[in-house]
Amino acid sequence: MENLQIPDQIKELIGDEPYYIDDIGKSESQVILFSDKVLKIQEVSDESVKEIQVLTWLEDKLSVPEVLVSQVEGSTHYLLMSKIGGNMACDDIYMANPEKLVKALATALRQLWNVDLFSFKPMMTLAKKLEIAEYNVLNGKVDMADTQPATFGANGFEDPHALLRWLVANQPDEELVFSHGDMSLPNVFFKDDHVSGFIDLGLAGVSDKWQDIAIVYRSLVNNFAGVYGGKTYAGFKPEMLFEALDMTPDWDKLRYYILLDELF
Ligand SMILES: Nc1ncnc2c1ncn2[C@@H]1O[C@H](COP(=O)(O)OP(=O)(O)O)[C@@H](O)[C@H]1O
Ligand SMILES: [Mg+2]
Repeated sequence: MENLQIPDQIKELIGDEPYYIDDIGKSESQVILFSDKVLKIQEVSDESVKEIQVLTWLEDKLSVPEVLVSQVEGSTHYLLMSKIGGNMACDDIYMANPEKLVKALATALRQLWNVDLFSFKPMMTLAKKLEIAEYNVLNGKVDMADTQPATFGANGFEDPHALLRWLVANQPDEELVFSHGDMSLPNVFFKDDHVSGFIDLGLAGVSDKWQDIAIVYRSLVNNFAGVYGGKTYAGFKPEMLFEALDMTPDWDKLRYYILLDELF
């Protein structure tokens, strides 16, 4: 960390605490974990600014990290926050127990949907998401290495432009709720059977209910198949998630929101 430029205000709070550097997150952020605090360093962006607004707004509504310092220096955004206890949903202890994992994820989704939208501004409705997707496509911000294997190529879309055109032409109706925006397993923590916290909220906002279900679903499938860590796990069937949610899967919407996420 010696070669990182850390603002003095943050240095004072972390002192000489031991730390380790996270290698789970896939964004370009750098995340440094201390015993009870986490420092997230990323390029300043709409997303990094919104993450602070959302964390502050959610403080008394959901379990999220407390913002200790948010500071922009030049083009770098430093967020010092409290550390969430428990383990990520993709931790071995949960992956080894799919029934328990899926139930806990269903509870986490319901907690998000129960957040009262009164006084909440950030809209992440489809119109807004498609605007961001268009910006990402036009500015080469789509990470082709981080897409589902079938999305592009022989039986898929020719390129991100073609996918964007399809998404614009096939917009589903929306049932608006508070949405996490990136509900993949490493972004939600459990302690025993309880949700101990939601993190990585830069894409949060008012969106369709199926946005978060789709990302939870994709993340479950990929984590059980060993796509990220190489380790595969047994015992997960998609029905388990929809049973736990007591909902009938809307496969068109699931597919739509998984495809939309390819452009983020
Ligand atoms: N407040 C926090 N408490 C505990 N762990 C955290 C916290 N913030 C980040 N992490 C850890 O760092 C990882 C990456 O952080 P995240 O905010 O998700 O960044 P990215 O945008 O790179 O995914 C998380 O998956 C988690 O393991
Ligand atoms: Mg993350």
